[in-house]
Amino acid sequence: MDKAAVFICLIAFTFINVDAWNTKPFPKDFKFGVATASYQIEGAWNEDGKGENIWDHLCHHGPFVVEHNQTGDIACDSYHKYKEDVAMLKDLGVSHYRFSISWSRLLPTGFADKVNKAGVQYYKNLIKELKANGIEPLVTLYHWDLPQPLQVLGGFLNDNFVDWFGDYAQLCFDLFGDDVSNWLTFNEPISICQQGYGNGRKAPLITSPGIGEYICGKTMMIAHARAWHIYDKEYRSKQKGSVGFVVDSSWYEPNSNKTADIEASEMKLQFVWGMYINPLINGDHSSILKKQIAKRSKQQGFKRSRLPEFTKEEQKYLKGTLDIIGLNHYSTSMVSAQKNPDPDAMGFYVDCEVNEWQADDWEKSGSDWLRVVPWGIRKLLKWIKVNFNNTKILITENGYSDNGEKDLKDDRRIHYVKSYLSNIRDAMDKDGVNVVGYTLWSLMDNFEWNRGYTEKFGLYHVDFNSRNRTRTKKKSADFYKKVIATRCLADKCAA
Ligand code: NOJ
Repeated sequence: MDKAAVFICLIAFTFINVDAWNTKPFPKDFKFGVATASYQIEGAWNEDGKGENIWDHLCHHGPFVVEHNQTGDIACDSYHKYKEDVAMLKDLGVSHYRFSISWSRLLPTGFADKVNKAGVQYYKNLIKELKANGIEPLVTLYHWDLPQPLQVLGGFLNDNFVDWFGDYAQLCFDLFGDDVSNWLTFNEPISICQQGYGNGRKAPLITSPGIGEYICGKTMMIAHARAWHIYDKEYRSKQKGSVGFVVDSSWYEPNSNKTADIEASEMKLQFVWGMYINPLINGDHSSILKKQIAKRSKQQGFKRSRLPEFTKEEQKYLKGTLDIIGLNHYSTSMVSAQKNPDPDAMGFYVDCEVNEWQADDWEKSGSDWLRVVPWGIRKLLKWIKVNFNNTKILITENGYSDNGEKDLKDDRRIHYVKSYLSNIRDAMDKDGVNVVGYTLWSLMDNFEWNRGYTEKFGLYHVDFNSRNRTRTKKKSADFYKKVIATRCLADKCAA
């Protein structure tokens, strides 16, 4: 073949590849849903007896780390507009809606002494409305909004957290468990511990890299197990549901075929999965992770590893407490081994001794951390399958941000969702990964934490300048609706 022919073939291949969607229908029982979280949408921050949580506190009292000092005081006003939200869900045709319960709305002090009746009623109404419309509620118990009085006592750094969370979880199972089958305990351990108690970027803004963040992780794992055991013992036989945990993970692509880079990728994955999922499945942190942090702690003069160990009893308590893996996945990073790691540095992001970056030619989004790398999700899913005995995976979040302009013709979001879904279908089809559902983030534009209302992920636009918080459908909502209706990514599904 001459050079020109090779070139034409290459171009043709590129085009074929770009549009090479997997058009096989998703299985009949595959679930399509969307997600939100309490602080990001509810508003009504101090109405009807709700207590203050750590995001209320941070947004009102500072340090002011949120763009334009914006707050979730009103957000999408879903506390008052939940019926409209459910009508949007119904129109999309989703099988499930993932939302979170605001701990302080149910228990204003954080403790289970006084239950706020209005809070209970709000969630009962929402769940009833969902069920009446044939939509299954998928409930996250903790999506970052810890009651402030518990933070005053140390939050995740206080061992009593396990009791506090257990009591709260039990109350939720009691109140809502007859209508809610599927529960998720914690959303995104890295955001909670590494960013809340490590590098101090998110509420409660505690800076304790390599120490506080690992204590937080240990407490969280045991608190998850507490909720799981309560459910297992007292509710499972009656309510027949499941209790999962949601991990936030990118894919970490080795920079080369060199052993050091491949090991760097594995190390980074172990920092995420070996820290949080391994204990729930196998009863302990992964050995690579333990060795690595112990090595650095020793070099630094610590008497014991900065990663707190689980006792034998705790290991037994943790093992086998995961019914389903929830995966929040948005993007991918390149990784390589650090040649001269800083021996004194401490923290999740440096203890692994891995360089991490995103390639310049990967498509950008409205968030500086989110580049569009659809093949990453397939590689990650395959890695999870191999490492965790094909445990069931529910994609609990995946989505695309733009910069907040009113863009109802959001073709880039459509392209993102389509290409990620295609790779998920490939992972199921060609790699045999046990993915049971997909949950798009998010139903509507909402309070994007430190970015306030400047980054938007919604299928519906929300006008945050209108008192009514008017919702308007974007093009991506119609796209997703069609995917749900046809269960595939093409006008004509493959056989
Ligand atoms: C993860 C979080 O769970 C959610 O709250 C956040 O809005 C999205 N990712 C997008 O950043």
